[in-house]
Amino acid sequence: MRVFGVGLVLLAGIISVGFSGGVGVENLSASTKEGDSVSGREIYVNICIRCHGINGKGEQGIKLVPPPADLSSSAVQGRLDGTLFRRIHEGKPNTAMGAWKHALSDDEIWDVLAYVRTLGVGSEGQP
Ligand code: HEC
Repeated sequence: MRVFGVGLVLLAGIISVGFSGGVGVENLSASTKEGDSVSGREIYVNICIRCHGINGKGEQGIKLVPPPADLSSSAVQGRLDGTLFRRIHEGKPNTAMGAWKHALSDDEIWDVLAYVRTLGVGSEGQP
């Protein structure tokens, strides 16, 4: 009986620590001005993945001329945020890369760009 009581107290402690940790993380991300790579990931998976693939290296078996840019490459990752934002916003003439300004708000483009940046960080080792 006694052991049971101690267990309950411990459990309550673990739950409350977990809960307050979650709230803290939420506050942190709300205060940053950078795009949110978590909502960006959702946009990427819904729209961009069918050409650029899950890791940004291009969807397997896709046949486009020119092929989708390798978003994990240092050539792409080396570009300035403003350059990549414009590429996504305006698209690229005579390629399959369309102008996403019609489908996505500026905020959403910043979010998806934040996600594209995560594809470049140690992408070799990531699953
Ligand atoms: C229909 C296929 C298709 C879809 C969907 C698509 N892209 Fe592309 N994208 C391309 C192609 C093809 C290119 C390469 C154009 C070229 O040769 O420079 C490209 C190029 C780019 C570039 C430029 C890379 C560079 O060289 O600077 C970025 C950034 C990019 N795409 C991001 C995105 C994002 C983010 C999305 C989702 C909102 C997206 N693309 C959706 C086909 C696509």
